[in-house]
Parts: sequence; C-alpha cells; structure tokens
Amino acid sequence: MLYNNDKQLDTQKTSPPRGLLITFEGIDGSGKSTLAALTAAWLREQGLSVLSLREPGGTAIGESIRTILLAKANTAMCMETELMLFAAARAQLIREVILPALAAGTWVICDRFYDSTFAYQGYGRGIDLDHISHLMAIATGGLKPDKTFLLDVSLAVAEQRLSGRPGKADRLDQEDAAFMARTRDGYHQILAAEPERLVAIDADPPEPIVLDQII
Ligand code: TYD
Repeated sequence: MLYNNDKQLDTQKTSPPRGLLITFEGIDGSGKSTLAALTAAWLREQGLSVLSLREPGGTAIGESIRTILLAKANTAMCMETELMLFAAARAQLIREVILPALAAGTWVICDRFYDSTFAYQGYGRGIDLDHISHLMAIATGGLKPDKTFLLDVSLAVAEQRLSGRPGKADRLDQEDAAFMARTRDGYHQILAAEPERLVAIDADPPEPIVLDQII
C-alpha cells in the first residue's frame, strides 16, 4: 500500500499535469493582443505558470520570418509564399517552445494560431482550405488549442480602433475592407464548425468588460 502511494507520488513529481494551450483570434483591431496579455496576467495572479507568445514569432527563426512577412516593402510576396512562411514560423514555435512548455505544466497563451491562417489565407485570400489543412497538419504535428477565444468585433469598431494607431500599419494591415470582411466571415465559419473549442466573445465593448467575459 505504502509502496503504491510512493510510486504515485514519484509519478506526479516526474510528470506535472500538462499545461493548457489557449489561443486568441480575431481580425485586426479586435483587441486580441491586449486581451491576451490581460488574460495571461490574470492567470499568473491565480498562481499559474504562464507563457505569452505571439504569432508569427516567439523564436529567433520565427521573428526573422515575421520581419519578412510584415515588411511593407515586400509587395511582391505571393499568397503561397505568405502561407508557407506563416506555417514555417508556427512549426518552429511549436517544437521549440510550445510543446516543451506544455509538458512542463506551463499554460501557453498564444496571440493568434492556425485559425488565423484559415481565416486570412483561406477565407481572406481564397487559398484552398483543404490544401491549408494539409499544411497545418505538418506545421502543428496535430497540436490543437484547448480553448480559443474569438474576439468578435464589428467591422466598424475594428476600423475605428485601427485608425487610432497611425504609423503602426504593416503589410497585412494594408488590405482593403472587403478582405477584412471575408476574414471576419471566415472566423464565423470556423466557430460554427468547432463550437466546443472556440468561444466567441463580443469585442465591441471596452476592454475591462471583454476581459470579464473571458475570465
Ligand atoms: P498580429 O501581430 O496579430 O497583428 P495585429 O496586432 O495587427 O493584429 O498579426 C500580424 C498580421 O498577420 C495580421 O494582419 C494577421 C496576419 N496573419 C495571417 O494572415 N496569417 C496567420 O497565420 C497569422 C498568424 C497572422
């Protein structure tokens, strides 16, 4: 009996409970970066070990890819290159950072994940969704978020927020309103397909109200 208990304790010591992967999604101007940071801070206050990441980025290789992806000068980038660069940054982040963190019991909060690729490159740009699924299977190795908050902002409020950040626009921020509308609609389709993983949060109200809903 004593032997069994000891064995159980040993097991707990060597393998802590796996951390959770929580992702934040939404169109530009949805406030997701701020809300991801506020949620991470709240989880830390609850005593959890939390790692905050953003996509694309989070590793040295990923940050280099991010620079290429967002540079306004890269107007020549075709959408297939864009897709594969996002996938490459994600593949690196998962192996180098996310999987080890989850295994160590750390919760991972990620500002964007593969839903962004389906929404932006799939629904926004029009790349075949099945092709994206195959690429995502390679990039993620099957890793799925435990929960995804979709910050659901109206196009009008998103536009208002973005116009308040002059000079912050990157290559992807230069897309037109129709692209953003298709991307937003794409997020709704993803939500409808996976209602257990995704939670839609009304992101039009001020941040403290949105944070309350997330918590
Ligand atoms: P992000 O840093 O979240 O920008 P913002 O804070 O302006 O929302 O993301 C950069 C841009 O990259 C954003 O316009 C969304 C886009 N993106 C994709 O198109 N596909 C993807 O897979 C990811 C992760 C981001």
